[in-house]
Amino acid sequence: MLDHFGLLAPFYEKVIPPPDVSRLRHLLKLPTAGRLLDAGGGTGRVASQLQTLVGELVLTDVSAGMLRQARQKAEIEISQAHAERLPFPDDSFDRVLVVDALHHFCNQELAIADLLRVLKPGGRLVIEEPDLNRFSVKMIAMAEKIALMRSHFYYPAEISAIVANHGHKARIESDDQVSVWVVVDK
Ligand SMILES: C[S@@+](CC[C@H](N)C(=O)[O-])C[C@H]1O[C@@H](n2cnc3c(N)ncnc32)[C@H](O)[C@@H]1O
Repeated sequence: MLDHFGLLAPFYEKVIPPPDVSRLRHLLKLPTAGRLLDAGGGTGRVASQLQTLVGELVLTDVSAGMLRQARQKAEIEISQAHAERLPFPDDSFDRVLVVDALHHFCNQELAIADLLRVLKPGGRLVIEEPDLNRFSVKMIAMAEKIALMRSHFYYPAEISAIVANHGHKARIESDDQVSVWVVVDK
């Protein structure tokens, strides 16, 4: 099977722009002295920007190539793991973040269940995704299918419905461009 992210890893941060740190900071209620998990965190593009705002930062991803890049960034604890089977006990993180990765996970329902499992009661999960309601995102979804990336994009309302199936209420925030943020307080 083609390892797209393994191939892209050395160039990833040259082509993907830096994250909107001020929005993430606001949505994640940072700073915090607590622990933040960046699941599907890739090269640490986002995690490295949040590092000084959290007590402890853990990044997980399946791609060895992406994690090789992340390891070059100081102070990020890294674990190679599927978001669907996180190697952490229940209730172990104060904040859980997923940026532009949910649609790449193998099983989004299982991943959301596990992200909520590792989140502490009182903690917050933030999922940033391209907004499938946008025509440009529909085109990206089609291009990724053609590139055999096996991604599966969900509408924001569908992500909220999965969260609701696990007994939690999601709030959706949009930048009126291409991104949406699904915010869940456990
Ligand atoms: C588009 S990149 C986003 C990386 C990072 N969050 C960022 O915004 O820079 C998607 C990431 O999801 C990871 N990924 C794909 N399937 C995964 C899974 N089942 N569990 C964890 N990570 C996964 C890929 O390896 C890749 O690093």
